[in-house]
Amino acid sequence: MSPFLLLCLTPTLTLTAAAVPTGSLPKISADIYNPTNITFYLYQPARLTPNPPILVSPHWCHGSALAVYNGSSYAKLAEQYGFLVIFPDSPNTDDHCWDVSSRATLSHYPATEPGDTLGIVNMVHWTIKQYAADAGRVFVSGVSSGAMMTEVLLGAYPDVFAAGTAFAGVPFGCFASPENDKTRRGYWNDDCARGKITKSPAEWKAVVEGAYPGYRGWRPKLQIFHGTEDDVLFYPNFEESIKQWTAVLGLNGDASWTTVAKTDDTPFANWTKYAYSAVGHGDETWFEAYSAKGVNHNIGNHEEIAVKFFELDCVSGNGEGRECFRWGNGGPLGNSLKGTEEGACLEVAEFRLNSCFKMRNHVVDSRR
Ligand SMILES: *[C@@H]1O[C@H](CO)[C@@H](O)[C@H](O)[C@H]1NC(C)=O
Ligand SMILES: *[C@@H]1O[C@H](CO)[C@@H](O)[C@H](O)[C@H]1NC(C)=O
Ligand SMILES: *[C@@H]1O[C@H](CO)[C@@H](O)[C@H](O)[C@H]1NC(C)=O
Repeated sequence: MSPFLLLCLTPTLTLTAAAVPTGSLPKISADIYNPTNITFYLYQPARLTPNPPILVSPHWCHGSALAVYNGSSYAKLAEQYGFLVIFPDSPNTDDHCWDVSSRATLSHYPATEPGDTLGIVNMVHWTIKQYAADAGRVFVSGVSSGAMMTEVLLGAYPDVFAAGTAFAGVPFGCFASPENDKTRRGYWNDDCARGKITKSPAEWKAVVEGAYPGYRGWRPKLQIFHGTEDDVLFYPNFEESIKQWTAVLGLNGDASWTTVAKTDDTPFANWTKYAYSAVGHGDETWFEAYSAKGVNHNIGNHEEIAVKFFELDCVSGNGEGRECFRWGNGGPLGNSLKGTEEGACLEVAEFRLNSCFKMRNHVVDSRR
């Protein structure tokens, strides 16, 4: 429950809550390129940590920014740890589902056609600049349509997001409209929803790589969760997502390269966790897949799990003398960066964020 709600409940609670600093959720009118007119809400905790991380929390179909704000614990967690939360609100008046189907939304900085991802990414850039936020610690997590949007944002903008968590989503590109029609932003891909779209790991990988041709840089880490009884985005999408992301991350197919650790009843009874890591890097599970036995589409938003995975609860390394998890830090693809633009950014660690950020700003500005 949000601090805002606590204030509204009873006089007793008002007294208790009054001692707790509470943030605000302004609707932002930013001068950004936002071609599909997504509404932008930004939760600013009362105690913002210096150089704050950013969490993007896209809503589910028929949901809204305010529904996620109200119905999740992100505002409370942001209050506790001092991070910013972007709650975007879909412009789709039919069913308030995100555009996870258009060619533009599935592309890295598309040239001319409007798609939802670019508006959200430009909200991130704006927030980084306005709040001196940490460009290396931008995360995304959602349920259902928000989970599909999470996988789409990670696939199209691996240079913006450090990690994501998807509760009941589908693979990147699975919802693509026929011929990637640019006008079909609200396309409901029933074949994908029903788990009828299957591809090989190499094919799924090619779909992601097609979003940002030529990119050979660092890829965000990812957690996916799916109920075996999902009645909206059917369970085969879990297996297809595993094929896709393990292929993209280079964590499939070769037993000498990949370790898969299976843990029963984690984090809940009847849920099984599969953690994928490179051999010798068991503490860096770059991809985690959770199969929730007996659970339908209503899998829920597990904010604490996402916050932990993103290390948003890590404040200045928690005094452990280490950095909190961030873009470019760790991962199975560390060696593949050399010789690319992104690799160059990584290799010169000190200049990385500056030069990468400028590179991105340039792209954003030129599209105004
Ligand atoms: C976004 O809003 C502008 C200004 O009102 C309008 O011209 C444009 O057509 C809108 N874009 C979409 C995709 O609806
Ligand atoms: C906020 O959440 C409460 C409890 O889940 C619900 O009863 C209420 O209708 C919600 N309010 C809004 C504005 O979404
Ligand atoms: C786990 O599965 C068993 C067997 O299907 C069932 O009896 C039990 O209620 C389930 N537990 C939870 C917490 O869902």
